[in-house]
Amino acid sequence: MTDKNVSFSESSVLYLKARTVAITVISGILQNHGSLSTQLSKHVGRVSNDHQPKLKEMCFGVCRWFPKLNSIALSMLQQPFEEDDYDLYAALLIGLYQIEYMDTPDHAAVNEAVEATKELNKDWAGKLINAVLRRYLRECDDIVASIESMPSVEYVHPKWLVKRIKKHWPAHLETIVDANNSHPPMCIRVNQRHVSRETAIDILTEQGIDTEKGDFSPVSLYLKKPVRVNQLPNFDFGYFSVQDESAQLAAFLLDLSNGEKVLDACAAPGGKTGHLLERKDIALTAVELESWRLDKINENLERLDLTADVICADVCDLDSWWDGQFFDKILLDAPCSATGVIRRNPDIKINRKPNDVVELTVIQKNILETVWKTLAPGGQLLYATCSILEEENTLQIEHFLENHVDAIEKELSLPDDCGIKVAHGRQLLPQQQSHDGFYYCLLEKSV
Ligand SMILES: C[S@@+](CC[C@H](N)C(=O)[O-])C[C@H]1O[C@@H](n2cnc3c(N)ncnc32)[C@H](O)[C@@H]1O
Repeated sequence: MTDKNVSFSESSVLYLKARTVAITVISGILQNHGSLSTQLSKHVGRVSNDHQPKLKEMCFGVCRWFPKLNSIALSMLQQPFEEDDYDLYAALLIGLYQIEYMDTPDHAAVNEAVEATKELNKDWAGKLINAVLRRYLRECDDIVASIESMPSVEYVHPKWLVKRIKKHWPAHLETIVDANNSHPPMCIRVNQRHVSRETAIDILTEQGIDTEKGDFSPVSLYLKKPVRVNQLPNFDFGYFSVQDESAQLAAFLLDLSNGEKVLDACAAPGGKTGHLLERKDIALTAVELESWRLDKINENLERLDLTADVICADVCDLDSWWDGQFFDKILLDAPCSATGVIRRNPDIKINRKPNDVVELTVIQKNILETVWKTLAPGGQLLYATCSILEEENTLQIEHFLENHVDAIEKELSLPDDCGIKVAHGRQLLPQQQSHDGFYYCLLEKSV
């Protein structure tokens, strides 16, 4: 690493350039070493606060436009980069992203990418990166014209996913891909234990934060301009939480009463755990498989000053966590393909594969079958995913209903214009400047 690569903050902390850290993050994603959010949270502190927006823009941007940038790059390379050189590939993709979508001058984008080869001690690749980017600058119209009919380029999604969306949602293809390719709005949940939505609007307006009410969740506010959470008044005292509007619906659809025993079966990071507890005084058990994600649930609960029995366990291993007392209500927010929240997790465009969906449907089926055993007769289970794929949603429920005569599907208390009524439950598709994609179905156990 050369010293051109680092800068000193006022407090003499050694910071790296945004582009240097972006290369680490993107090559980590290309090597499937973790999601964009995991990689970013690991590395974001290596650049100064001032440069964090640039780092995020590069990382989110490259992931969001990856299907197109990747096709552009591959069309100019004689052979793809080996895995050992994914850092170089990341530098090239960042260079292309800067040229296409950022206001970086073209010559600076090329120079920075070539400079990166030196920082990576791979000077041998400088000529290649220089040649590819300069060729793109000369021939971009022809290059783009030669690949633009590819589905991955036309829709900026992986080909397999375009096929699925066309199959499941032919009339909504454009809406879905446009939403997925856009920047998500910042949506917050107002904690009604502290303040009403009307009062919250006034408090936020006083701070210069303009908001708009969401149409479906009565506690949702969209911020006209995103802010850092610590700019939200009384955030540390639990007045607000950042949560998409469609995710906020879960706590309303599971019609809770005070005193009920409730299971949050797949709880981390605890967005819905907190909301369930904000709504009613319930005895909540929150189960989460990944120990490292438990801290997030506890952090959320502490901030909201709410309590739950938070357990680290595989919810399918009942012996390890269940005391045999039935639950009145269960929220099963199942692990899923996250195809409804691609705009918030654009790395899905790089690493999600069709086989993941197959594996996830098996996991969802097992969790659903297992937690159903812990539901009291007459109790209700809300099945939720942030997927838009029918095999994880309506088909999953269809299969469950066919095999569980004690399960009855219940009407969801949602207005008709909220999402699309499907064979079982309701499918919300991602909308630009509005909610994410989500699926809900409510089941009741016969007495
Ligand atoms: C969609 S996320 C849940 C989001 C959460 N409900 C919220 O609103 O913040 C699914 C979670 O289920 C967890 N999970 C996956 N398999 C599990 C299992 N067998 N037992 C418990 N948790 C599991 C994942 O680690 C992940 O944190």
